Amino acid sequence: MPIELNSKSEPQKLQNPFAQVKALVRENLKAVKKIIAVHSGKGGVGKTTFCVNLAASFAKQNFSVGLIDADVDCPSVNKMLGKNERVLTNEKQMLQPLEAHGIKFLSVGNMVDSENSAQIMRGPIMFKLISEMLYKTNWGSLDYLIIDLPPGTGDNPLTVMQIASLDGLIIVTQPMEVALVDAKKSADMAKRLEVPVIGIVENMSGEIFGEGTVKKIGSEIKFLGSIPLQKNIREFSDKGVPVVLEDEKLFSIFEGIIKGIAP
Ligand SMILES: Nc1ncnc2c1ncn2[C@@H]1O[C@H](COP(=O)(O)OP(=O)(O)OP(=O)(O)O)[C@@H](O)[C@H]1O
Ligand SMILES: [Mg+2]
Repeated sequence: MPIELNSKSEPQKLQNPFAQVKALVRENLKAVKKIIAVHSGKGGVGKTTFCVNLAASFAKQNFSVGLIDADVDCPSVNKMLGKNERVLTNEKQMLQPLEAHGIKFLSVGNMVDSENSAQIMRGPIMFKLISEMLYKTNWGSLDYLIIDLPPGTGDNPLTVMQIASLDGLIIVTQPMEVALVDAKKSADMAKRLEVPVIGIVENMSGEIFGEGTVKKIGSEIKFLGSIPLQKNIREFSDKGVPVVLEDEKLFSIFEGIIKGIAP
């Protein structure tokens, strides 16, 4: 007997599997004033370092701020904030964010036994982790929630852009051509997913990687500021302390960036 593909009854409507999750996220984050993701196509350009110092700068300016480490397989926010405690749930099974340097945060680095064990996962597990950090976490009311995205234009940043109702995206890049190519991909991804691009930051500028190239990539993307390649930035990251808490000159660069984010 031939298989009947077209039933004569009304075809069932296909449900968007993300619509429900997106609604749950929106409900859980209704007391968060601004949700900002930080991205770049290229790895290692300093996205996490930027997120940690942006969050610390907001906290230093007395804003309430949260930070989600959406790099669920290779997390590093926990290390850069110097906190190894385990994340716990409350009686309603909601995750409780940890707190360091005045920043509420959540990282898969605080959900595993050893920082050296590899988190090997396929898309569905990644989706579950990211979505639960957004809708099953007790974020409370915040002025800013920053989401640190892993590099690339694949499953993970795509998930965040589709379920998080982002107010905007900040692109971080190094000044050299190979990084700029991937920064432009990040901007294109945001455009295609209808996420507004807040602006772009040049990181690690100076003699080694060059400087001033990001300003020239086009007037459609707002230039937010330039952070130098500087030894103490790496040293403080390794120590687990946001460098802006100790280096006033770097803090003033972040103050300028914040002015560009929320003019
Ligand atoms: N401006 C800077 N000057 C010196 N070192 C920096 C600077 N920015 C970042 N770093 C260092 O560069 C390394 C990579 O930075 P980071 O982990 O923030 O990059 P990333 O873009 O988040 O990487 P990934 O793509 O793997 O998530 C870290 O050791 C960090 O301390
Ligand atoms: Mg990172």
